[in-house]
Amino acid sequence: VRHRYFTNPAQKGLSMLEMMFAMVVLFLVGAFVMNMFVTGSHQLVRAGKKEKISGFLRAKTSELRLLEYAQLDPLSATGNFGPADPDYLYRIDYSAFESYALSEARVVEVTVSHPEIGEIKNRLVRSAVPPLSPGQAAFNKFGCASCHSLTSAGYAAGPTLVPLDQIGVSGNPRPYQSGSGTLEDYINNSLTDPGGFDAYPDVTPAVGFSNLVMTYIPVEGSDPAYDPATGVSSQEMSDLTEWIAGFNTP
Ligand code: HEC
Repeated sequence: VRHRYFTNPAQKGLSMLEMMFAMVVLFLVGAFVMNMFVTGSHQLVRAGKKEKISGFLRAKTSELRLLEYAQLDPLSATGNFGPADPDYLYRIDYSAFESYALSEARVVEVTVSHPEIGEIKNRLVRSAVPPLSPGQAAFNKFGCASCHSLTSAGYAAGPTLVPLDQIGVSGNPRPYQSGSGTLEDYINNSLTDPGGFDAYPDVTPAVGFSNLVMTYIPVEGSDPAYDPATGVSSQEMSDLTEWIAGFNTP
């Protein structure tokens, strides 16, 4: 039995039109598959660049975090990442942070870009010194360190400086140690009534500060003569107390 194609003399094999159609279909399928590969590899390349750009951003940001604050000033504001990666560019911009002077704190914005990928940014705040706790700020404002040492917070010790991180370690037992009030009350009273309790009796001439008298500064709420311009406000009092108490045993 002969194949049916060859039984009809008018239909031997595919017609010319059918052949052309089949070729077009084959071509389209091929092109589609090729395109999938090409797009896929393009996407891979893009993903690689994106990863690289964020790697560069992370590295640049860490670099800026580790720099001394003073070194931020002469930093060049733009650049690339060396001959191996000339297409990746960075830019560093400064702006003010809240109400601080640029010498104290600033916002640093790092931008890394690539012509095909675009740019990504990172912002960080750098400050020259860590901000003081309110208690320490008050301690500085009222010049307490002119008569007191506080080595735990970096304030120098000296023979004429009364230590504020060793309250109750020597001298007369403080009131809170003999059951009257708390350490916080005692610190408060040391300011509101400096002569009210003698912590270091004048018996050891070797201890220079036993003859010193603490300066009296009117405290808000305890002395009607309190003047907001020069006195210790209630807020400052509680900040000071909390900060000093933190260095001592209750
Ligand atoms: C002019 C020097 C002087 C200044 C300034 C000064 N003090 Fe004093 N302070 C003293 C002396 C001296 C004593 C110890 C008095 C005694 O022997 O009882 C003392 C005692 C104290 C005590 C108790 C210490 C203890 O061991 O019992 C505290 C707390 C204290 N001062 C806090 C402060 C704070 C806070 C400031 C700043 C607002 C300040 N002082 C400023 C001289 C000063």
